[in-house]
Amino acid sequence: MQVDVEKLEQEARSELGRAETPEQLEELRVRYLGRSSELKLALREVRDRETGMSLNALRQSLEEAFEEKRSGLEHGELQRKLMAESVDVTLPGERIAEGRLHLITQIRREVEDVFLGLGYTIVDGREVETTHYNFDGLNMPPWHPTRSPAHSLFLSEDVLLRTETSPSQIRVMEAQDPPVYMISPGRVYRRDTPDATHSPVFHQVEGLAVDRGISLADLKGTLLHLMRALFGEKRELRFRTHYFPFTEPSIESDVSCHMCDGTGCPVCKQSGWIEMGGAGIVDPNVLEFVGYDPERVSGFAFGLGLERIALLRHRVPDIRLLWENDLRFSRQF
Ligand code: DAH
Repeated sequence: MQVDVEKLEQEARSELGRAETPEQLEELRVRYLGRSSELKLALREVRDRETGMSLNALRQSLEEAFEEKRSGLEHGELQRKLMAESVDVTLPGERIAEGRLHLITQIRREVEDVFLGLGYTIVDGREVETTHYNFDGLNMPPWHPTRSPAHSLFLSEDVLLRTETSPSQIRVMEAQDPPVYMISPGRVYRRDTPDATHSPVFHQVEGLAVDRGISLADLKGTLLHLMRALFGEKRELRFRTHYFPFTEPSIESDVSCHMCDGTGCPVCKQSGWIEMGGAGIVDPNVLEFVGYDPERVSGFAFGLGLERIALLRHRVPDIRLLWENDLRFSRQF
């Protein structure tokens, strides 16, 4: 077969110049350089050296031209993609709504940080408890009012929604030997009608330290440290005697008012002091219940209401605001 080398080259090159996509280019490559192209067929039938050389030269120059075109197209393609996908970093962004921690969560974490710093462990209690842990282990006498369905939310005769975080004390002491240094935050439930200061669900933090020679002085120092972290370095603490079945002696702790520094104001009802929660020295009956020897170890315990801390510290006028999840309220903290 006779091939007009010059004509073929011209034709191929002009077609090549018009190719715009890699697909079109590939089509042309098959047409001019493929196995059954005019050129390849001619090469196969070549008889004399001169024709062979000129055909081979054409093949080589076309291959180079195709290669050049291919990389040009690929480059152009890449440029087009980059342009299409480019981002104008100067455009204003879309604001992503930012969440925040609920005030009660913030306060719970503050309390946890203080006690982690003192080497305490944080223990999760159970919201559904048995009367064994919620009452018996805590030395609650049979006549105690919270044993009644009028005050507490029972699921069956001996299962209820815990009325306080104190059952965590019993579970922890049952599970480990002294020394114990733990706090246990969580929800508690009482059959209360909601109003500005009551909620049927609220949060407490239980604290318990059992070791050799623990005294009321340790309790006072620990609570004062916490109150100063929560309400400011100038706070003072005072104890008043009280009664709880699981502590002896039992006390109620007051912290000097953070609003007026103790001189008297509406927040502390002019007394200069604010009631903070119950505490005491763990009753020997409780230690014996869990198999501890009250002759060898002693302990202190306390229970604090997180809502109470929130209401006082941030002057929130109604506990129900903490449960409504109105962003206008929550965003303030
Ligand atoms: N559990 C008590 C309550 O809910 C608070 C309390 C008082 C906890 C004295 C204690 C404690 O651990 O020792 O009112």
